[in-house]
Amino acid sequence: NNYAVIMAGGVGSRFWPMSVNECPKQFLDVLGIGKTLIQLTYERLTKIVPDENIYIVTNESYVELVKTQLPKLKSNQILTEPERKNTAPCITFAAAKIYSQNKDANLIVAPSDHLILKEEKFERIISTALERSDRENRILTLGIKPTRPDTGYGYIQFHMEGDIIAGQISKVRQFTEKPNREMAEIFLKSGDYYWNSGIFVWKAATILNAIQKFKPDLHELFCGELEIYNTPGEFEFVNEAFRKCEDISIDFAVMENAKNVDVILADFDWSDLGTWGSLFDHLDKDVNGNSIKGENTHIFKSSNCLINLPDDKLAIIQGLDNHIVVESENRLLILDKKDEQSLKTYLKAIQES
Ligand code: GDD
Ligand code: MG
Repeated sequence: NNYAVIMAGGVGSRFWPMSVNECPKQFLDVLGIGKTLIQLTYERLTKIVPDENIYIVTNESYVELVKTQLPKLKSNQILTEPERKNTAPCITFAAAKIYSQNKDANLIVAPSDHLILKEEKFERIISTALERSDRENRILTLGIKPTRPDTGYGYIQFHMEGDIIAGQISKVRQFTEKPNREMAEIFLKSGDYYWNSGIFVWKAATILNAIQKFKPDLHELFCGELEIYNTPGEFEFVNEAFRKCEDISIDFAVMENAKNVDVILADFDWSDLGTWGSLFDHLDKDVNGNSIKGENTHIFKSSNCLINLPDDKLAIIQGLDNHIVVESENRLLILDKKDEQSLKTYLKAIQES
């Protein structure tokens, strides 16, 4: 009864210019190891659920990319969205479709664009979560020990005395999606908060119940005619549902409101690769702390830089500290690492996203 749903319809704008609208981060080999992030995600999940139970939910403009990068998938395993409405509609759609085929389906819902190391640990944590979810109607999320007051994450207040061990499950007191800086600092200091990894485990029935409770319109749009899934009428039904539904993330729609939420502390190495800087932390560096990609790139008197230039680009870089230099197609980025959260604002200013 175990299934996996990979959410692969986001844009990843802080990874510009490698990640662009036409080919977002999940479809890129950002680590330079010959596999894209979605390929790594898929492989990781094939070790836990049967291949035929893995579904990808993506925007219609990325279906060809998905087919090319994951040729083993059958076409019914790719769920297509006509519009980008964030993760709540994406998850409702996938859960409804799978539920219509299997009322006992137990789901792992995972982002497609994260880095996970120590995969044996990932497998162990997920198995524990699946067992729990199979037994009880709980909404489980994998929590990560926070290391900085990052405002790009959900914060989970757990409910437990004493030290928490990896793999242990705790009830959630409160879930706060993307708090402001001040709140994030308070959460970090208090010591009883985890970051939300964005990897969830729940029964299809459990999450659909929660959606029905907190977002009845969304539930009605996707579950009003469950019997239409896997018939010729599905396409029109789903198109209409996406046209009418609200644009909202699962974190705001459900996680902040539900009372039956559990968190399980994950101890695998995790990064959501949200920015160039977070990728930099995971790359090999030279003696001066530079990570350099580009066969014809020559770097002098520089330190702690992430350089990613095309192999055929002859380049000299001198006197740069703590910067990101990336060229892709005809786009070039030179950015102070300290200011990388502002990349989104700069892209807006030049109307690139
Ligand atoms: N199919 C589909 N459709 N996928 C989507 C859509 C959509 O409209 N929007 C986003 N996704 C995919 C993204 O590709 C990504 O893999 C995943 O869903 C999460 O979306 P993000 O947009 O990256 O969310 P976030 O990073 O801002 O926040 C989430 O992840 C954090 C951890 O990385 C939240 O769950 C936070 O609470 C969490 O801390
Ligand atoms: Mg993300």
